Amino acid sequence: MRKGRLIVIEGLDGSGKATQAKLLTEALKAAGVNVRAVSFPDYQSDSSALVKMYLAGEFGKKPEDVNAYAASSFYAVDRYASYKRDWGAIYENGGTIVADRYATSNAVHQCSKLPRDEWDEYLDWLFRYEYDLLGIPAPDLVIYLRVDPDVSQRLMRARYHGDEAKRDIHERDLDYQRRSREAAEYCAKRFGWRDVACARDGEMRSIEDIHAEVMDIVKSL
Ligand SMILES: Nc1ncnc2c1ncn2[C@@H]1O[C@H](COP(=O)(O)OP(=O)(O)OP(=O)(O)O)[C@@H](O)[C@H]1O
Ligand SMILES: [Mg+2]
Repeated sequence: MRKGRLIVIEGLDGSGKATQAKLLTEALKAAGVNVRAVSFPDYQSDSSALVKMYLAGEFGKKPEDVNAYAASSFYAVDRYASYKRDWGAIYENGGTIVADRYATSNAVHQCSKLPRDEWDEYLDWLFRYEYDLLGIPAPDLVIYLRVDPDVSQRLMRARYHGDEAKRDIHERDLDYQRRSREAAEYCAKRFGWRDVACARDGEMRSIEDIHAEVMDIVKSL
């Protein structure tokens, strides 16, 4: 039997990844596709322990306190565990996996810690490490949900109802988010991620409207 397909929904914090991954999964299910939804980090699993410690600031209060390679490893081994225990067999038997974040999130969130002229070296290491050396599958399709920073800030404020203490160390650092955005757009170009512009004139498009565009892209796969 042929290997399955892996579709990744990527985007900055609060860009609607969980929302769109859920709608896509439901639509594929309704179309009779053998589909499995996964999301990273896998907070339900012990394998995310180091990620949780990192995001809670146990290794330092700023994202930069843990270098890009160390932090990437925390997230990568969590994916490896989830692949082995949860969805690897489904994928190997031809199933379709819809992932809310993936190795691509390391690219987006860890490049921002490095000077621009070290991005390529880091990205080459990252994808070789996760896909070739750890051996988890490379995505067939990465859909990048692009949201203007002011719009995503508004969404995040609404989510936390003004309780800023609930933000993790990435979400708190606006400069870090700006650099993550630059990294995301660089990666989208370099790796051919499909770009979905989720905001128009400073406002989010409707969830259904974005979903329709995501479905068009997935159908073309
Ligand atoms: N198109 C949209 N218009 C308005 N609100 C939206 C839209 N898409 C998602 N939201 C809302 O924005 C918030 C963030 O969405 P969601 O959790 O799907 O994003 P996320 O990318 O998974 O976030 P995170 O990066 O924190 O995991 C939620 O409250 C969601 O209901
Ligand atoms: Mg999410």
